[in-house]
Amino acid sequence: MNTQEIIKNEDTFLIPTYKKMPVALVRGQGCYVWDADGNRYLDFYGGHCVTALGHCPPHVVHAIQKQSEQLLFYSNVVYNDTRAQAAQLLAEMAPLHRIFFCNSGTEAIETALKIARKSTGRNGIISTANGFHGRTLGSLAATWNPSYRTPFKEVLASAHYFAEFGNLESVASILDKKHDIAAVLLEPIQSIAGIVEGASDYFQGLRKLCDQHDVHLIFDEIQTGVGRTGTFSISEQFGIIPDMITLAKSLGSGIPVGALLLSDSLSDEVRYGDQGSTFGGGMIAMSAVIATLESIQHNGLMEQAPKIFDQIATAIQPLVRDVHGRGCLIGIRTETPSSELLPVLREHGVLAGGSADPHVMRLMPPLITKAEHISEFAEAFRNVVTTAHV
Ligand SMILES: Cc1ncc(COP(=O)(O)O)c(C=O)c1O
Repeated sequence: MNTQEIIKNEDTFLIPTYKKMPVALVRGQGCYVWDADGNRYLDFYGGHCVTALGHCPPHVVHAIQKQSEQLLFYSNVVYNDTRAQAAQLLAEMAPLHRIFFCNSGTEAIETALKIARKSTGRNGIISTANGFHGRTLGSLAATWNPSYRTPFKEVLASAHYFAEFGNLESVASILDKKHDIAAVLLEPIQSIAGIVEGASDYFQGLRKLCDQHDVHLIFDEIQTGVGRTGTFSISEQFGIIPDMITLAKSLGSGIPVGALLLSDSLSDEVRYGDQGSTFGGGMIAMSAVIATLESIQHNGLMEQAPKIFDQIATAIQPLVRDVHGRGCLIGIRTETPSSELLPVLREHGVLAGGSADPHVMRLMPPLITKAEHISEFAEAFRNVVTTAHV
């Protein structure tokens, strides 16, 4: 099938829930993807913040091939060597050492909210304005975008409160007024909002506030986690440990997998039946997790993230209003809306993303990005901005 045929088929048979780029990809390798007509793109959208090791990383491909001949699947009613190894490796690399495996980001968030509510006996959740946590009903209730939430307001949990991101006082005043709060949930860098960062003392203050009010602190690290910002969890850079951390996206290099990491004490409170998932912890996903984590560890990829940020920022800073974010989660503020720049960038062979802020373009390049990819990106970007007014 060529690009037009693929687009026609998808648009005919799939319900129109996604706004798509008019690109039909059929192959990927490293930092590049190819469309059905043979055009090559440098993928700085990172397969939607998923392909932290690039496309089809050989160690992961080999691991899932090998596992598929061994045991495709068995659920959590039995023990399994691949799951045991994945759990051990993840626990060794992460700041929290107890794990629930699931299949997606939203499922990890749902699990965190359930555990926080059961543990405290309270229902209230504080999340942040402009934050995103998923689209199933529990995580949707904690997601800011009113256009996603409002049509379902009658069925969403009512005990949800939104604080201003980055403003400790805003969280404190909700905690003072409401006495039903179970958890504070936030993205430590708000990604879709436009790569919005908080100061270290904001996160340290949140930790203290949560301790004072006996409330759980949940970091949604579905984008920031697995080394993307330079440490396995961004919380390490703030010198704090949340009670729960959610992971997904990069964790399986493209094989669907999510994880909730919990503190030992919280994990001790969990009982049989509190949560479950048939496919969570399945063997193919677990083999992908092992291979992803091994690749990150053995190749020192987390340490690369801040270097990649610096090189990209240096290459394009003179052309733009600012470059912000951390590691391989990058926002570029431009005068011209990114909705105008992105299609032209694509014509120059580069995929990047937009955000809720019309003037912030998002880059989520893989941790394997090298100087030559950055030069290629910078050249395309320069060409695009010289024809637009950034
Ligand atoms: C920060 C954040 N949380 C949660 C989710 C939901 O993850 P999933 O789409 O895997 O359910 C996403 C997805 O984009 C996300 O970026």
